[in-house]
Amino acid sequence: MAIHRIGVVGCGLMGSGIAQVSAQAGFPTVVREVSPNALEKGLGAIRRFLDGGIEKGKLTAADADRTLAHLQGTTDLKALGDCDLVIEAIVENLPAKQDLLASLDAIVKPGAVLASNTSSLSITQLATFVRRPERLIGLHFFNPVPLMKLVELVRTVRTDDTVVAEVDAWCRAIGKTVVTCGDSTGFVVNRLLVPYMLDAIRAYEQGLAGRDDIDAAMKLGCGHPMGPLLLADYVGLDTTFYIAEIMFDEFKEPRFAAPPLLRRMVMAGWHGRKSGRGFYDWSTTPPS
Ligand code: 3HC
Repeated sequence: MAIHRIGVVGCGLMGSGIAQVSAQAGFPTVVREVSPNALEKGLGAIRRFLDGGIEKGKLTAADADRTLAHLQGTTDLKALGDCDLVIEAIVENLPAKQDLLASLDAIVKPGAVLASNTSSLSITQLATFVRRPERLIGLHFFNPVPLMKLVELVRTVRTDDTVVAEVDAWCRAIGKTVVTCGDSTGFVVNRLLVPYMLDAIRAYEQGLAGRDDIDAAMKLGCGHPMGPLLLADYVGLDTTFYIAEIMFDEFKEPRFAAPPLLRRMVMAGWHGRKSGRGFYDWSTTPPS
């Protein structure tokens, strides 16, 4: 079965980006949020990104209109019933994903593929929540989704080879490069990236250097596009914290343990860019 109609559950940071790139590539895409307010916020972010692209000369107003024409927002999960591929991009919380996958399982057609954008939960475990585990796959996108070229395609021992091939073809059709990997917590990127960001927070916490110096060191010394503290703000400190907790629980290695400072910042509601405050103050001019 070729993948044509796409469903995305969650229109937050990741879901809105996934829905955007899908619609931008010409796939009819339905994106679902729990409330009209949350949906409008997500669709607004897509419109702003497209407007930014027009200003930067990356796309035309006609391209943006075509993208929006392929995009439908809904608060009704049943609107995803006739999708060939449904990607969940909701909160990184196992019971929430279990509920959602069980609901989707009852709605989607038998040939549909279910995918999770989880960054750290086990795809094998998520597949136990549906009746057709061979048709569930991990599809891990990166933030900001429209600009980051990679998708990690995660298969389990139970995943059907034809599902891998179909989803791989769709990822390429939306312009992404695919890395296929097995189901190990954090997959490839977060296995390497998360301990790096946590180490940067520990270095800052221990007073090795100031925030700007740590970020400048990795940006200018290693050619990274942004320093690790700015990146943690970008990813979301809450998300970074939750991923660290899950990875520590899996591997029991100190390098995955969340530093106390990160825990305190998350408790204080400093979730980085999306909350207006993290290592940087995002409430006024975004840091460069
Ligand atoms: N529409 C179209 N194109 C746009 C655009 C828009 N609205 N906004 C920017 N662009 C284009 C720019 O024109 C530019 O294109 P060019 O290279 O052809 O000139 C390119 O995107 C870069 O944009 P900017 O120059 O405005 O911005 P920067 O150069 O500062 O790059 C960034 C921004 C891409 C976010 C870069 O800083 C970066 O790559 N940072 C690292 C991000 C990262 O590591 N993400 C992964 C996080 S981990 C994750 O998500 C996994 C999770 O599980 C934790």
